Amino acid sequence: MWSVYNIVCLFLIVCSYVNCASILKSPEIENENIAIDSSYLLNDEEFEIPDDEVADHVRYSPERVNLIKCKQYHQISKVVNGRDAKPREFPHMALLGYEDSDQILWECGGSLISEKFVLTAAHCLRNKNGNTIKYVRLGDLDIKSNTDNASPQQFTVKKTFIHPSYKSPNRYHDIALIQLDKKVKFTKYVIPACVGLSTDLNGTNPTVAGWGLTRRGGDPANILQTAPMAYVSANVCRKTYPKSFALTRGIDDDLMICAGGGTNKTDTCQGDSGGPLQIINQSYDFGAFSEIVGVTSFGRSCGFVPGAYTRVLPHMPWIREIVWSYSFKSAAARTNS
Ligand SMILES: *[C@@H]1O[C@H](CO)[C@@H](O)[C@H](O)[C@H]1NC(C)=O
Ligand SMILES: *[C@@H]1O[C@H](CO)[C@@H](O)[C@H](O)[C@H]1NC(C)=O
Ligand SMILES: *[C@@H]1O[C@H](CO)[C@@H](O)[C@H](O)[C@H]1NC(C)=O
Repeated sequence: MWSVYNIVCLFLIVCSYVNCASILKSPEIENENIAIDSSYLLNDEEFEIPDDEVADHVRYSPERVNLIKCKQYHQISKVVNGRDAKPREFPHMALLGYEDSDQILWECGGSLISEKFVLTAAHCLRNKNGNTIKYVRLGDLDIKSNTDNASPQQFTVKKTFIHPSYKSPNRYHDIALIQLDKKVKFTKYVIPACVGLSTDLNGTNPTVAGWGLTRRGGDPANILQTAPMAYVSANVCRKTYPKSFALTRGIDDDLMICAGGGTNKTDTCQGDSGGPLQIINQSYDFGAFSEIVGVTSFGRSCGFVPGAYTRVLPHMPWIREIVWSYSFKSAAARTNS
C-alpha cells in the first residue's frame, strides 16, 4: 500500500494540498479526455490510485465522483489490457464466504465497485443456515487450483449495508454493499467495475458471471463461468413469476431486470446470487468498460425460465452515498488532521 506516491504526497500535503493534487493529476479532470495514465502502476503487478486523488474529489458531487472513479478504474484496466481492453475478463468478480461449522462455504457472488466496496444481493448477507457473510475473495479464477493464472486476495467483512427497503422474504430491493476490512490491491486480476452510468439498456447485451455455486452446499463450478443473456420483458417475466408471498406486487419493472431462459437452458444457472449482470459500455472515447447493471437475485428451475436481477440504477443514490461519501469523508478527515 505504501508507495512512492504516498511519500511524495505526504510530503506535499504538509506544505500544500493543492500542489500535491496537481502533481499527481492536473485538476483539469473535468476535461473528459484522460490520457492513459500508467502512474497508477506501482510495479509490474500492482496499481494504486493515490488517496489524495480521492481527496481532490471532495469538491465534486457523489455523482461526479462515480464517473471520475469509473475513469480511473478504466485507466488501470487499460494499462493492464492494452488499448483494446477486454472487460469480459471480470476482474471485479467477488466470491462471498460464510463460516459454517469448521469450513468456509463460498455460496454467493458479488462485484467489486471501489477500493473497498463489493456490491451483492441483500439475501446474500446470510446463507441459508443463517450464518452471516464473513469473507470476500477477489481475483480468483479457479477456486480449487493454485496454478491457475490468477492471484486471489482474501478479505474479511468490516461492515455490511443492506438496502433499507429490503424486507425479507420480499424480493424487492435485493441489494447490499459489503465494506472490506482493508483496501483492495489493484492487479490485473482485481479491478472494480463501474455502476450507474447507463440509463437506457436497450440495445446492450448483458452477460452473467459466476462460479455457478449451488445453494444446497454442493460443490461449486471451479472455474469462473460466463454466459450471454437476453433481456426478457417484464410482461413475459410475470408469466414465470406471478404475484406471490415473496413478490407481493409481482415483477416490478422499475426495480428488476429479467433475463435469460428460453432455448439456452444453460444460461441462468451460471450466475450466482449476488453476482453481476453486466454490459460493456462502449460510449467513451477511451474505450469499453464493464458496467454492472443488475445483481443476480432469484430464479427458478435453472435455465428454462428467465432469472430476475435487481436493477442497479434506481439504487444508485443509496450506493453513491455509502461508497463515495465514505471516500470523501475519510479523505477529508485525513486532509484535516
Ligand atoms: C455508458 O456510459 C455513459 C456515461 O457517460 C452513458 O452516458 C451511457 O449511457 C452508458 N451506456 C451505454 C450503453 O453506452
Ligand atoms: C430499442 O431500440 C430499438 C432500435 O433502436 C427500437 O426499435 C425499440 O423500440 C427499442 N425498444 C424499447 C423498449 O425502447
Ligand atoms: C443464447 O445464446 C446465444 C449465443 O450463445 C445468444 O446470442 C442469445 O442471446 C442467447 N439467448 C438467450 C435467450 O439468452
